[in-house]
Amino acid sequence: MHFDIISCQPGLLESPFEHSIMKRAIKKELVSIDVHDLRAYGKGKHRQLDDYQYGGGSGMVMMVEPLSGCIEDLKSNRTYDEIIYLTPDGRPLNQSLVNQLSLKKNLLLIAGHYKGIDERIREQYITMDISIGDYVLSGGELPAAVLVDGITRILPGVLNDATSALSDSFQDNLLSPPVYTRPAEFKGWKVPEILLSGNDRAIAKWRQEQALSRTQERRPDLLDHMDS
Ligand code: ADE
Repeated sequence: MHFDIISCQPGLLESPFEHSIMKRAIKKELVSIDVHDLRAYGKGKHRQLDDYQYGGGSGMVMMVEPLSGCIEDLKSNRTYDEIIYLTPDGRPLNQSLVNQLSLKKNLLLIAGHYKGIDERIREQYITMDISIGDYVLSGGELPAAVLVDGITRILPGVLNDATSALSDSFQDNLLSPPVYTRPAEFKGWKVPEILLSGNDRAIAKWRQEQALSRTQERRPDLLDHMDS
């Protein structure tokens, strides 16, 4: 799977892909990521990327020409399944959307800054708007990294333990049950007896019950939307 990311702060996207699971997935060539510096498409001597809003109002807007130039160049090299703009007014990201996007081949992500991007870019090129939550960040780079990470970790071959991604929280609209590792007792704090029993069926049942009660307690909203 391939990601292109357009950004005017490409440095923000260096570290997230250089560690752990992302690093391994890139090394194994299960995923490739190219970050494109929008500044190269900036206007004039100062490589301008943003300008004042028509109609007045505070905050700068990312201009249409640099973004259009960069998107057109990328589109001439590759066909994209989706062109995604990361924005607080987008569709809320959840596991179901991550799963759907993990089936695609080529995604183009656009990280916005300032007050947002000129609406004409959204109308002409963007096929999907995604928000990573109801709060505003300084730019779309961290949301883009969140999306790439969420997708990459569930691609076949990325995690060593094939069942691990499937048992993540949210995969079945349930939070994960509690987990423990050695020692079985620390300062008198004991691991639940059942997990030491060796009885796989009883353990699976316990985990299911724990997942359900945790979800009821902490995120009852997930149980109302079992199909989303
Ligand atoms: N850009 C700024 N805030 C964002 C958010 N919450 N989700 C996606 N993109 C963003």
